[in-house]
Amino acid sequence: MGEQLNVGVIGLGVMGQRMLARLAAHQRLQAVAVWDADPAAIAKTLQTWPDLRAADSAADLIATAGLHSLYIATPPAPHMTLSELAFDAGLAVFCEKPLTVDFVAASACIARIERDNLRAAVNFALASAPGLAQLQAAFGSNSSMPLGALSEVQLELAFAAWPRPWQAAAGTWLSERIEGGFTREVLSHFIFALQRVLGPAVVKHSLASYPTDGRSAETDLQALLQIGAVTVQISGRVGGKLADQNLMLWRAAAGEIELGEWFSRFEQRGGSKPQGLSGDLRQAAHSDQLDQWVALIEGQPHSLPGYAEALAVQQTIEALLTP
Ligand SMILES: NC(=O)c1ccc[n+]([C@@H]2O[C@H](COP(=O)([O-])OP(=O)(O)OC[C@H]3O[C@@H](n4cnc5c(N)ncnc54)[C@H](O)[C@@H]3O)[C@@H](O)[C@H]2O)c1
Repeated sequence: MGEQLNVGVIGLGVMGQRMLARLAAHQRLQAVAVWDADPAAIAKTLQTWPDLRAADSAADLIATAGLHSLYIATPPAPHMTLSELAFDAGLAVFCEKPLTVDFVAASACIARIERDNLRAAVNFALASAPGLAQLQAAFGSNSSMPLGALSEVQLELAFAAWPRPWQAAAGTWLSERIEGGFTREVLSHFIFALQRVLGPAVVKHSLASYPTDGRSAETDLQALLQIGAVTVQISGRVGGKLADQNLMLWRAAAGEIELGEWFSRFEQRGGSKPQGLSGDLRQAAHSDQLDQWVALIEGQPHSLPGYAEALAVQQTIEALLTP
């Protein structure tokens, strides 16, 4: 086993807490220092993880001796500034999605990453999902197209409530249209998967519906995208009985693939049955994701999306939300 790799965590809300638990179970990565703009979040974190060093500021955390990587789990607005600070200190950065809603800052950051060959990736967990590998094999650019030509992708999202109950403790940003909403928060994962397999999408039509308060995030999204000859239909809504549904159907000339529940459910109709799709597929994706983070830190090849790929996802997402 290689040396321990020390991680600093900024943003100690719902996702920061989840990642601290995942890091504690990982063999190589270990959280050593934390910081949050809210002192109460730091205090709560130290109750669960008393051995962590509580930094005084983002700069103080990034200056922690022996740190290898920064994990950013704040809402999107500070992602670019925090990334830049970490690059100044020579750290590898693993940032939560959505990358940003500030495309100018993101483009400058990406130019720096490319110029200086910096280590940076974004946490789309589907990047490590076995289901995504199957989609690549069936429809990716190097595929022999065992199911024939892909004609259509359908995606359905439904949430009984937004935010979902497990994210109810998140800040108000998640329920507001400036940074939050299910399109950025959830649809972005599936646009990532779609664009990784097929390339950039063009928004042909999109209609987002909002509450009348002028502030709250979308409650409905109906959209049509095009990628080459493939049409992509998207339907998302808040309300109804389904607690947290996501269902993706990839329809081709000689068969189809259906993925449910964050790619943990995989069904193929037509073609020969793919191997290696047993056990808890979602859990497998999460643990492989951390191994990919180790590879990022060590400068090895990895499957995590870089900032440019994540910005391309966000460009599609913001186009969907632009009237
Ligand atoms: N990859 C995934 O599956 C996944 C799942 C959930 C959330 N997320 C993403 O993780 C990020 C955080 O989401 P969350 O649900 O944990 O939100 P949250 O509101 O629960 O937590 C955010 C935390 O960041 C802190 N914060 C805000 N601004 C800060 C700043 N400038 N500096 C330091 N701390 C700051 C807040 O005080 C809060 O404690 C978002 O980008 C979200 O989209 C990703």
